[in-house]
Amino acid sequence: MEVIVRKTYEDISREGAKIIRKKMAKKPDLILGLATGSTPLGLYKELVRMHKEEELDFSQVKSFNLDEYVGLVPDHPQSYRYFMNENLFDHINIKKENTRVPDGMANDLEAECLQYEEEIRKAGGIDIQVLGIGSDGHIAFNEPGSSLGSRTRIKTLTKQTIEDNSRFFEKEKDVPRFALTMGIGSIMDSRSIFLFADGERKGDVIAVAIEGPITADITASILQMHPRVTYLLDEAAASKLKRRDYYRWVDENKAKVKGATT
Ligand code: GLP
Repeated sequence: MEVIVRKTYEDISREGAKIIRKKMAKKPDLILGLATGSTPLGLYKELVRMHKEEELDFSQVKSFNLDEYVGLVPDHPQSYRYFMNENLFDHINIKKENTRVPDGMANDLEAECLQYEEEIRKAGGIDIQVLGIGSDGHIAFNEPGSSLGSRTRIKTLTKQTIEDNSRFFEKEKDVPRFALTMGIGSIMDSRSIFLFADGERKGDVIAVAIEGPITADITASILQMHPRVTYLLDEAAASKLKRRDYYRWVDENKAKVKGATT
């Protein structure tokens, strides 16, 4: 595991984009796992800038999004498909047919979940999974209590998540109660995982997710079991970590021993 702490949100967004650019140079047909929420917006902005100013080429890249609300049409401004088009896909040269977001309008939602897993498998699995973290420690929409082995499925959102996400909707009652989400097991299959978090409001949950016990109460804590996970945190989000100094020391010295991690 690697914990990279940078001063600001912009710094972690830039750092994340550089890592993706480096991987794309080695593997132009990279399979990206993408997230929504406010956290990855800076990363997407930087990837768009790299595409426009540095000709970063997404023509062979494929993407799979983590989740989607049930019952929102793709052009609903709060649907995750709309979010991805607006904030990333419409501004880079990725082929739209190579971008996949679970279909929350599918007639048979369970079949859609199975199909989603199958498509990821057929594509060869996810190379880089981008994650944010919910205030209750969830990743994607894997709410507290989710099975740590879960696969893509229909999930009922918690009151906390509905409340958190209501800031994007006119009224709290407009927030969908259900979502399709990749499971914890599906996320853990990714070859590498990058979790981004910024701001003081994520400080406590980041500390328990990274340094607390592995528990379904904080689904992000399972990432401690992943062999290639990197946390990209700004100083506020990292402020409650016990081993903050150690992570910094590793980060500063890692160039000396290739492959050194925490
Ligand atoms: C939603 C998404 C998650 C995201 C979380 C945090 O619940 N399903 O993927 O990580 O919100 O959002 P934010 O980045 O806005 O704090």
